[in-house]
Amino acid sequence: MKNITIAIDGFSSTGKSTIAKELANKLKYVYVDSGAMYRAVTLYAMQHNLISEEIFLKEKLINELANINLGFKFNPDLGFAEIYLNGVNVEAEIRNMKVSRLVSKVAEVPEVRKKLVEQQQKMGMHKGVVMDGRDIGTVVFPSAELKIFMTASAEKRAKRRFDEFVARGEQVTFEETLKNVEYRDHIDTTREDSPLVKANDAIEIDNSTLTRKEQFEKVYKLAIEIIESD
Ligand code: CDP
Repeated sequence: MKNITIAIDGFSSTGKSTIAKELANKLKYVYVDSGAMYRAVTLYAMQHNLISEEIFLKEKLINELANINLGFKFNPDLGFAEIYLNGVNVEAEIRNMKVSRLVSKVAEVPEVRKKLVEQQQKMGMHKGVVMDGRDIGTVVFPSAELKIFMTASAEKRAKRRFDEFVARGEQVTFEETLKNVEYRDHIDTTREDSPLVKANDAIEIDNSTLTRKEQFEKVYKLAIEIIESD
């Protein structure tokens, strides 16, 4: 069986990470959540007062990039690798609405993207990796053997994300969640550097009406076909 690279891109809250984690576990591949890296840089910027709803000290953040150390450590209880920012586990903190509101602004900065893309490429150097994000099939691994582009209606996506927030006890409304999803979609698709766009050779999956199991089986079948081909 050969090792391949699997890129899963798409809009916010399309269930990319759910499928990527399931796939990686089943294939015994490494899973990398590239969005977590952009979120962790955003958290760093927030902690150092470099970004808020009102300000963004972009140049200062760029100058501080060398001080931002990101790493992943596998958590056997959860079955996936959690993200660490300068040695601290920030897996839970980066998912909150405050970070969600600011992350797309940070992800627009070419210097931030350059640093994270280099690290992502290193992590996928030996293949056997499933990575999800916005630019994985277009920029990070343009020659990935399998590229999936996930879509679903904004309402469906916001509902999923809202349910996650509620389960974690975060005080947000559905309207606020929907607004955030639409806001990030807009910035992510219109930014100059590495906008979210479906790669020509990506397979599009609209999971608005697919169950988690149906979606997994669809993608797993595609992966196995490639892995078992000569
Ligand atoms: O979980 P969700 O789909 O809401 O987002 P995420 O994957 O955690 O990514 C958070 C944000 O990081 C996105 O809205 C993008 O602005 C940015 N991002 C990116 O620019 N490029 C990537 N490869 C991954 C995420």
